[in-house]
Amino acid sequence: MTVKDMGCRTNVLHLLSDEAKIRKASPIKTTMKYFSDPNIVFLGAGMPSGNMFPFESISFKSVSLDDVNGTGAVEGCIHRDKSDLEICQDVPLGVALQYGNSRGQPELISFLKEHTSIFHNISINDWDLITTAGSTQAWDACLRLFCNRGETVLMEEYTYSSSLEAAVAQGLNCVAMKMDKDGIKVDKLSEMLRDWDVAVQGPFPKLLYTIPNGHNPTGCTLHEERKPELVRLASQYDFIIIEDDPYYFLQMNEFGAPELNVPGDVNEMQWFKENFVNKLGRSLLEWDDVGRIIRLESVSKTFAPGCRLGWAIGPRYLLDHLWNYHEVSMQSTCGFAQTLINGMFQRWGQIGYMKWLLRLRNSYSMKRDHCLTQCQKYLPNEVCSINLPISGMFFMVYIDPHKHPKFEREFKSKVDLLEEHLYNSFVQNGMLLACSSWFRVDPNHNKILAFRGSYASVDAEKMQNGIIMLGNVIKAEFCL
Ligand SMILES: Cc1ncc(COP(=O)(O)O)c(C=O)c1O
Repeated sequence: MTVKDMGCRTNVLHLLSDEAKIRKASPIKTTMKYFSDPNIVFLGAGMPSGNMFPFESISFKSVSLDDVNGTGAVEGCIHRDKSDLEICQDVPLGVALQYGNSRGQPELISFLKEHTSIFHNISINDWDLITTAGSTQAWDACLRLFCNRGETVLMEEYTYSSSLEAAVAQGLNCVAMKMDKDGIKVDKLSEMLRDWDVAVQGPFPKLLYTIPNGHNPTGCTLHEERKPELVRLASQYDFIIIEDDPYYFLQMNEFGAPELNVPGDVNEMQWFKENFVNKLGRSLLEWDDVGRIIRLESVSKTFAPGCRLGWAIGPRYLLDHLWNYHEVSMQSTCGFAQTLINGMFQRWGQIGYMKWLLRLRNSYSMKRDHCLTQCQKYLPNEVCSINLPISGMFFMVYIDPHKHPKFEREFKSKVDLLEEHLYNSFVQNGMLLACSSWFRVDPNHNKILAFRGSYASVDAEKMQNGIIMLGNVIKAEFCL
């Protein structure tokens, strides 16, 4: 079958890195289908026997899905052997903890594919989903998949610092894309690509990395109208897009709006489609009819980051190459994480999972509302401005450096020096915000003084005290 037959107009295999082009599928992988065949005496792999794993069973209990009357908690006990399972979609420990299934356990993959189909209307026919150890690992793997040393990656001008460091450490040329409050300025990107000068800017970009929702660090969200144009540019200029979207389900209610809850006595799936699924922004993947986007998702912000579980969605023929790399690097995602999370999913079902996501949305909306209300109240608006995030965990406090009385004399009009000074001053007064320079792709672009805050991890009282402290330090620093 050709890539065209799969529903993709173009083959983008020419964009693979040299190492990915050389790397073959592991031959041992082809034997795995015989492993559970009772008619085969399997001596083909160095796999410890499942009955030598020292785990008999593992049990879990979820929180309730319903704050009001405490319903919707699920419990499960997953046993080692298939014959002892409570429900047949569980992944027995004997399988979960074994080698093999390096794309992910089929029961989990099947649940995630169904979930993906509910939320994303994917245009390419032969899309697939494979598990990862979270988005950080998946991004690093994508770099290995597509980029040779010295090649160019486009990134938002501020970006998640680990993603930037991973690219820099692989010797890549990271070029900043201009942003505003609605994400990448696609018109400016178009001009940059049109006027690209290899002698000045380096090789033509092969990969574009974006965080479309609740962008880290700026908190902004890519505007819906910009998405099709961004995907069109990828086709016109022949590059891959990596859509790193761990904050997709932290798209929030409008500022000050009441909680959104499923009313009793409705068709729940229909209600979720109309009031939740259709109200979320579309993924870039939905606009891709070529097969040049890989979307990264993670349970880090929806379950817990220590699970180290995520998944990549994209055209099967590209994910096969990602799989080949996983086979010789992480092998597979953690069996415990897969079996526990799958166990919870299977008991919740798709509706239960959506109820959990809705609960997260309500909680984050409340935290965001509280945080921004405190910012409006306690930060001096003569020198500070804040953005209003519509998704994610982050907000930015922008400060006008020119209003600092010592900016010119003591800090020589250098924003980075003032940033460092203010950072230390905040910490000394018991408040930590992240410096925006830590996330800056182009070190020469240093005109903006801003700090990243997050409303994710502290309770309402601590948040208020922190913002009061921050306001006091800024007022003292700026002599207000
Ligand atoms: C944009 C972005 N990608 C990835 C991650 C990390 O995700 P994971 O825990 O799945 O590696 C973060 C977390 O802070 C993030 O902000």
